[in-house]
Amino acid sequence: MEKITVIGAGNVGATVANVIAQKDLAAEVVLLDIKEGIAEGKALDIWQTSSINHFNTRVTGVTNDYLKTKGSGIIVITSGLPRKPGMSRDDLIKINAGIVKEVTEKAVKYSPDAIIIVVSNPLDVMTYTAYKASNKPSNKVFGMAGTLDTGRYRAFLANALDVSPTDIHALLLGGHGDTMVPLPRYTSINGIPVTQLLGKDELDKIVDRTKKGGGELVNLMGTSAWYAPGAAAAQLVEAIVDDQKKIVPLCACLKGEYGQKDVYLGVPVKLGKNGIEEIIQIELNKDEQKLMDTSADSVRSVMKVLDDMKLFK
Ligand code: NAI
Ligand code: 2OP
Repeated sequence: MEKITVIGAGNVGATVANVIAQKDLAAEVVLLDIKEGIAEGKALDIWQTSSINHFNTRVTGVTNDYLKTKGSGIIVITSGLPRKPGMSRDDLIKINAGIVKEVTEKAVKYSPDAIIIVVSNPLDVMTYTAYKASNKPSNKVFGMAGTLDTGRYRAFLANALDVSPTDIHALLLGGHGDTMVPLPRYTSINGIPVTQLLGKDELDKIVDRTKKGGGELVNLMGTSAWYAPGAAAAQLVEAIVDDQKKIVPLCACLKGEYGQKDVYLGVPVKLGKNGIEEIIQIELNKDEQKLMDTSADSVRSVMKVLDDMKLFK
């Protein structure tokens, strides 16, 4: 791909740009931030690893100069406040909705054909915000959460089972919050159902730790995580750039799937060069569907906060 833009050169944005560069996913990655000099500095720092880490992706940093993002094939939005201790993802909405709306409008003006990946929190509602602000079809605007949340789930399972994390295959549904729905019934270790290897109590503990995985890191570090979020966003970029048709959980606009309409929520999709090529509907039992409905209700309550802001006439 010719050019990829990452908006927000904070912890997550700089990490996404770094992984994109290290994997040589584009001719150029442009890092943009509103804070004078920060994107330029981080871009230069990343570029100075190119001979050490053997990549050719040019890394450019700019302060609010959208002209330099012109013609991007993918725009990753990470701008906005991260969660601080005691703050929920939803507390962020009032500040981050304005930021996400503004950066989306500016970026789309210069890259009308771009696929947009949203990372800013509260994720599901910020993805909806970018969708509204971009005026693009929903298969081209989606959010990163499921690849991070399953990454955490798989890491915890790898420790509990003492197996390779890459052998663990897992799915997760719902919003990016404490109501997310990890699915042990759809989790396997190279085909062996996890339910045959771990007891219910231990699995329940891992599911619970996964749901609170973001908060665990906020409490440890005083701000939210970036290595796994950055890598998880770059994984979506890679699936698009390489047209992988990869099945991944991400935050997509639902139009009746899973009994939900007009809401952005985590579901498995097929991801390729055109963005979301298919939303995959898996069979849920009653308990799983109930958890999905509860998660959708929780996202809708945050949507209400956005609606009340009347950002979109
Ligand atoms: P950070 O504070 O390190 O970086 C945010 C950057 O956005 C700052 O450099 C800031 O100057 C920039 N920014 C603010 N307004 C801007 C604007 N109008 N235009 C351009 N840049 C602007 O925060 P961090 O840790 O990188 O997190 C970024 C966002 O990602 C947060 O909202 C956080 O909650 C979210 N997040 C989401 C995850 C997910 O799974 N979806 C995981 C981790 C973080
Ligand atoms: C995370 O899950 C806080 O959304 C952020 O790390």
